[in-house]
Amino acid sequence: MAKKKNVLTLQEMKNNGEKITMITAYDYPMASFAEQAGVDTILVGDSLQMVVLGDDSTVGATLDTMIHHTKAVVKGAPGTFVIGDMPFGSYHVSPEQAVASAVRFMKEGRCDAVKMEGGVNMEDTIRAITSAGIPVCAHIGLTPQTTAMLGGHKVQGRGEAAQKVLDDALAVERAGAFMVVFECVPGVLAEHISKILTIPVIGIGAGAGTDGQVLVFHDVLGLSGDFKAKFVKKFRDLGTEATEGIADYIKEVKEGTFPAEENTFGGVTEEDISSLKEPIGLDDIKGGFRTIRDGLKNLVPGAGRDQNNSDEDHDK
Ligand code: KIV
Repeated sequence: MAKKKNVLTLQEMKNNGEKITMITAYDYPMASFAEQAGVDTILVGDSLQMVVLGDDSTVGATLDTMIHHTKAVVKGAPGTFVIGDMPFGSYHVSPEQAVASAVRFMKEGRCDAVKMEGGVNMEDTIRAITSAGIPVCAHIGLTPQTTAMLGGHKVQGRGEAAQKVLDDALAVERAGAFMVVFECVPGVLAEHISKILTIPVIGIGAGAGTDGQVLVFHDVLGLSGDFKAKFVKKFRDLGTEATEGIADYIKEVKEGTFPAEENTFGGVTEEDISSLKEPIGLDDIKGGFRTIRDGLKNLVPGAGRDQNNSDEDHDK
């Protein structure tokens, strides 16, 4: 297996013109698949709030949820550089709050770096986290946590807005980010800025001219239902495979062909079965009491009869 990447080797990859690969993962098996496939970095994205937990946005993700999933990913991919995604609200109040959240991510999640959305507006915050010794991957362009401000999931940086993308990119680099994600930025602009920046630029919906690419696990493998953004490529259709597999299981259970002989434990003979003693049921116990009561009645007239209850009451 290749050696685990770090901030220096990722920088070298950019310097050498070697593309950096990143995929999201949210649990142990996903992380293991990604590591076995040889990905350079894994992002525990807050997209998990949508693709795993079913929300229609990432805004509801909490720090506890993100750390919970990050722990599992790190265990599943111990040889891969893992980035934990800081959720909305965990770094927006103040740089101090952001440092505290990032420290929790590192101590509890055991990841290698954190990611946060924002450019010029987050310069001080990124500086505070990196000053605390925590590597920060920035995220600019379309920032899903703040689409309310952007008016929806729109491509960023077209026309005059290109300047803002450049300003944000330079701000995060200045603040000490070791890497930056560009989301939904026109390809020509993303390529141009990738050449200006010294740190690696990872694109999603930003064309082929960035230093690397990131995609959401579910989108790569066809697990996102009907969702199909322009920038996504479905490399496998595991969703259809999964539905068909479960349908086969249901069919075989209904038909009685599963479990088969090979799925069933042996080690008990017909003889063992025929020598089994039937368990004593409630009716046997009631019958036994009736026999004793009747015997007592014969011995002592009036015995076994409750003043208030009839025989029928006892049988209920
Ligand atoms: O949360 C996420 O998955 C992301 C990627 C889309 C970059 O931020």
